[in-house]
Amino acid sequence: MIRVKKISHASYETPDLDKQTEYYTEILGLALIAKEKDAIYLANTVEHHSVVLRKGSEPKCLRIGFQISPNDDLDEFEEQTRKQGIKTIRKKDAEPTLADMVSFADPKGTIMEVFRAPEAQHHKFRAKGIIPHKLGHVAFHVTDVKGTTQFYCDVLGFRVSDWMADYFSFLRCGVDHHTINLVETGSNRHFHTAFELRDWAHLQQACDYLSANGYTQLWGPGRHGIGHNLFAYHRSPNGLITELFAELDQMKDESLGYFDPRPWHRDNPQRPKTWPKDPSAANLWGPMPPDEMMK
Ligand SMILES: [Fe+2]
Repeated sequence: MIRVKKISHASYETPDLDKQTEYYTEILGLALIAKEKDAIYLANTVEHHSVVLRKGSEPKCLRIGFQISPNDDLDEFEEQTRKQGIKTIRKKDAEPTLADMVSFADPKGTIMEVFRAPEAQHHKFRAKGIIPHKLGHVAFHVTDVKGTTQFYCDVLGFRVSDWMADYFSFLRCGVDHHTINLVETGSNRHFHTAFELRDWAHLQQACDYLSANGYTQLWGPGRHGIGHNLFAYHRSPNGLITELFAELDQMKDESLGYFDPRPWHRDNPQRPKTWPKDPSAANLWGPMPPDEMMK
């Protein structure tokens, strides 16, 4: 099958477009790369955009863009998707640099936008703000974690990295431990959007910078058990949660079947598994998420 290789962008609606744009540029340090009709395009890597913001009544994540390899055939991907009984739409020039995409809804209604990796852009990283390396993952609350996990594996080619009990799945489409994670809580909505930072020192700088600008931490810093990433969560101005992380587990060689060994692993080697519902799966350092995290 043709598998998606990488998350490319996430698109959101937000009531206060100016405030959210200011957060992404001045606080996170993404570059405002284009304004088009009602859309704001924000970039931080080789892609034209990593985040798209549009005005809407409620803050929500509407769409996620995934790249297949430049050598893969998009017609073939569409055919493979249709064969699974999924209704696809073909969109031409839907967004800058994305000349041709296949679009369809996942089981919770989020729109998947799949396209061949476009030609690399040459944005400079900004000099001000947190300046993440990249958009890392998007996590969702779901009503049907088994069905939605199956969809990402069967339709988009994701692999399961870990489960927490039977209600929280972590899925990879590249070397990173998770690009999508799904927690069953009784509703379908955005949980958090995560950006990768350099290391622990960068995370400390980011927490200080957030604090100096009036943003306090919701949970963390800590180190997750599942994925073993350093984490710190805060709320963006529209209420949606942002995670900043570093040192996420990576499986560099799928044929080996384990994540690159690290001193903080308790399994040796660390293979995909089902973790018990234990505090250490959430935070090896101790403190559990406050109730506020799940709102
Ligand atoms: Fe996360």
